[in-house]
Order: sequence, then structure tokens, then C-alpha cells
Amino acid sequence: MSKIQFLNLGKQPITNNFLTEQNPINEFFYDLNIVYDENTKIVSLESFVLPEKMFNDTYAHMASMSITMRESNKILSENIIKRFNPKSVLEIGSNDGIMLENFAKQGIKHLGVDPSANVVEEAIQHGVQSIVSFFGDESSENIKVNYGTADAIISANVMCHLPDLNDIAKGAFNLLNDKGVLIFEDPYLGSMLEKVSYDQIYDEHVYIFSALSTSKIFGSHGFELINLVPQETHGGSMRYVFAKKGQRQVEPQVQAIMDHELLLRFDHSDTYSQFKENCEKSKIRLIQILEDAKKAGKSVAGYGATSKSTTILNYCGIGPDLIDFISDTTPIKQNKVTPGMHIPVQSYEYFKENIPDVIILFAWNHANEIIEKEKSSIDKSVEWVTHLPDFQLNL
Ligand code: TMP
Repeated sequence: MSKIQFLNLGKQPITNNFLTEQNPINEFFYDLNIVYDENTKIVSLESFVLPEKMFNDTYAHMASMSITMRESNKILSENIIKRFNPKSVLEIGSNDGIMLENFAKQGIKHLGVDPSANVVEEAIQHGVQSIVSFFGDESSENIKVNYGTADAIISANVMCHLPDLNDIAKGAFNLLNDKGVLIFEDPYLGSMLEKVSYDQIYDEHVYIFSALSTSKIFGSHGFELINLVPQETHGGSMRYVFAKKGQRQVEPQVQAIMDHELLLRFDHSDTYSQFKENCEKSKIRLIQILEDAKKAGKSVAGYGATSKSTTILNYCGIGPDLIDFISDTTPIKQNKVTPGMHIPVQSYEYFKENIPDVIILFAWNHANEIIEKEKSSIDKSVEWVTHLPDFQLNL
């Protein structure tokens, strides 16, 4: 058996399925087991939740809600234009158009492909040409006929959501011109292992990529990894740049990062057993912090009803008894309860009127943006905590 199960994060609900308070009955739960595949070197969920259960007309994640993400998408777009000068760009999982609007503004031919109708509607309103569709080998053929081939296929924080990577790779190869590039970035395995950010794992994040695993999988479909660019976003990500084999020069950074991954034993199961232990310690620590706060009569609120927070709350069994509410700026999450643990989600305005004694920062990957916004108005006596053992907040 090539797949080794190394972590069980318990029964988990659909991450972005925020519920109206009256209606938390018949909620769907699944077992969140994580495996390491010795053949492909990839870390993934053991079984995948059907995409239709997650990405539908009520999908609650709007990419444009974060200034950090808007900025990082702008920088990536500018980079791609400068480095590869594409005449046609396709984005897989284009959400509300946050990335492609940068190409649209410059008059570059583009197409966004996303399965959630509500976000595609938003994108179209922002002047971004988009279609409601899953991306894969079959849809690539339709896209080719109706919109033509692409010089660049890009995807930010989406590739790791897609269960059938072989199908994606085939579709991308089919649609790319010979000198074309496939560029994607996603949370990086190295950062997750180092920070103990097990909350990177949830139904939508089917894979946690590394250079070793992506080069193995995309390499088996005619691609070659030509560059790797570490990113600060999403708590530590990696940008992977692939080209058709032999079509472009391979940067030395590729071998350097792969060697580093081998040095850190990403290809050995003991690395993952250690990670499991670290997750268990993080769980005990977080519960202790919250129980102590409650015993001391302190009020506790979460900051950001993030996708990641669903994993933490359900793995640790933390509900409204330990956290009074979670603040979130996304209107469709507000006045609902969180998936699984049913903690009320309140608006940012409510949060500002009800500043708690302890804030648990679930949007820790946006910490700089948030601390900058809050440090002058929130009293210094308020405690900020996260589930990450070594996380430093620059208050
Ligand atoms: P994500 O990490 O799953 O993208 O979600 C980030 C969530 O955090 C999103 O629902 C918006 C919320 N958020 C706030 O409420 N306030 C903030 O300042 C930021 C940056 C995010």
C-alpha cells in the first residue's frame, strides 16, 4: 500500500457551509483523514468530498474580501505580464475576478473558469469574462473551440482544491500553446509542517503541495517544473511554474528547493508522524487557553470565520461554550452559525462594539493587515491568540 494515513482530524462539516441558526439539523459530516502517498510524494485527504457539495450557488468565500489577497493577485498578474507577456490567459477558479481584472484592465484576452455561479456573476460585473464550469480535460476541449488556446494558465489557491490533478494536467496541456506556462500557487507543505498549521487541511484543500509532489504528478503529463517562488500568502505558499518539457529553461531554484525538501525528509513517513504529534499538542494548548479564559470570566471572540477555522473548531471540539462569537466582514457569513460547532458569526461592526478580553485570530494568515488595522483602536490589555505554537503577533 503506497498511501499511509498519518492524521485524523475527526468528523468535519463542509467548511464554508455557514448555517442559519434555525437550521443546523441534518448537517453533513465526513471523516477528515490525511494520507501521504509514497509513490507521488503527495499529502492529501484520504477521501474527497464531492465538489458539488462545496462549490455551489451559495459558496461563501469571496476572494476580494481580503486586501492582502487583492494585492498579491495584482503583483502576480504584473509579474506574469512582465515575465511571459501572454496574449491570452485562462484562470482556473477565477472566483469574483480578483486576479483577472488585472489582465482585463490591460486589454489582455482572458477567460475565468469557476464552478460557482454567484462568484462568476460578480466577476462579470467587474468586467471579467468568465464562465461557470469545472476545469478538466473535457472542458478544455470546449474552451479551445469557443475561446482558443492560452499562453498562460494560472490558478491561485485553487489547484490544491481539485481532486483529479491528472485530469487538470491533461486539460492544461491541451489548452496551452507550446511556449505556454502553467502557473499556480497554493499553501506549501513545508510551511504547514513547520508552523503546525493543520488548519490548511479541510474539504476544499484536497492536497498540500510540495515541489517533489507537483513535479512528479505534472511531470507525468508532459510538463516540466521550471521555477519555484516561495510566497508569504496564506501562511506560507509556493508558486509553481511549469512549461511543456524542453520548451523553457529550468531555473536553478528548482533543484535547490527539491534538495531542501529531501533534506527535511518530506519523502519519509516519520516526518508526518511527528506532525501528527505536533497537532495533538496544539489542540491541548488551545483548549487550555480557552478554558482558562472562561474560568477567569473573560469574554472570547474569534477574528475571521475563515475556512481554516472550521478545521480547528471541529478538531478541537470548540463551540459557543468557549467562544462567544466570531467576527467576519463577509456579509453572507454574518448572522449565521459556523459549520459543525455552531458559533454565531457577527459583523465587524458588532465586534467593534463588543471587543472581547481574548481574541482568537483565525485569520492568522492575514495577521499583518489585521494588526495594522486594529492596533490603534483595540486596548493593549486584550489578548490575541492563535492555535499555532510559535506564532508571533507584532502588536
Ligand atoms: P480565508 O482565510 O478562508 O480566505 O478567509 C478569511 C476570512 O476572514 C474571510 O471570511 C474574511 C475574514 N476577514 C475579516 O473578517 N477581517 C479581516 O480583516 C480579514 C483580512 C479577513
